[in-house]
Amino acid sequence: MATKIISFVNQKGGVGKTTTAVNLAAYLASHGQRILLIDLDPQGNASSGLGIQNAEIGIYDVLMGDSSLKEAIQATDQEKLFVLPATADLAGAIVEMNDHPTKLKTVLGKLENFDIVLIDAPPSLGALTINALTASHGLIIPLQAEYYALEGIAGMLDTVERIKAGLNPKLNILGIVVTMFDTRTNLAQQVEQNVRKHFGDLVFWSVIPRNVKLSEAPSYGQTINKYAPISSGAGAYKRLAQEVMQRVQKL
Ligand SMILES: Nc1ncnc2c1ncn2[C@@H]1O[C@H](COP(=O)(O)OP(=O)(O)OP(=O)(O)O)[C@@H](O)[C@H]1O
Ligand SMILES: [Mg+2]
Repeated sequence: MATKIISFVNQKGGVGKTTTAVNLAAYLASHGQRILLIDLDPQGNASSGLGIQNAEIGIYDVLMGDSSLKEAIQATDQEKLFVLPATADLAGAIVEMNDHPTKLKTVLGKLENFDIVLIDAPPSLGALTINALTASHGLIIPLQAEYYALEGIAGMLDTVERIKAGLNPKLNILGIVVTMFDTRTNLAQQVEQNVRKHFGDLVFWSVIPRNVKLSEAPSYGQTINKYAPISSGAGAYKRLAQEVMQRVQKL
């Protein structure tokens, strides 16, 4: 199988993009896939979630042609799981990349030896996210199970269609994942039903519960399979990884 590239996108902040990218990466790697997680958010949460803090070289340097992929990619403490970290100067790239929507795609063309590349995008539809979508075969949209979950999603789907019609005809929505699901509230269940009614089979069966272990793990630089492998959050991401594996094979 050729390398498949998948972005995690939702312009809304705090919906679980990074948590999903990081923990899915860990479970996909434990399935034996060789995984690269690219942190394309200047906040750097995916890097620190994988235990990489204050990296000296990151995706910014690769995009600017100042470092090679090989120099920038770092191993993590999990076998088969690698990260291309974000550094603070990535924020500056947003302006520089405005006129270069295919830059990331070009850079990743030189990537070898990975089965799946996951890209954690920032909460915007700006130049970095456009670059991520242009470089990807698929995208995963995390939706937080709350009242305004669908707000803004139309704008995002428009952007996806625009990119499909121009820069990247191969782009597919791999799936929508409902996150931070609070089993105790009717509202969460209503939101989930609503999302399934709207998007049908696009929605993954696995739903990610609100689970405090998922929010604690990053402060230890650990993924959930290490930090709390028998938590509800771990089980949910493990099941989601199986669904993602099946869908990736059809990409
Ligand atoms: N299922 C969950 N249960 C409990 N807390 C969660 C869960 N998913 C995410 N969180 C917490 O919610 C916050 C936002 O999650 P996360 O950083 O993954 O969202 P994001 O979409 O990447 O945010 P941003 O848009 O800022 O990049 C974080 O503090 C995270 O630890
Ligand atoms: Mg994030």
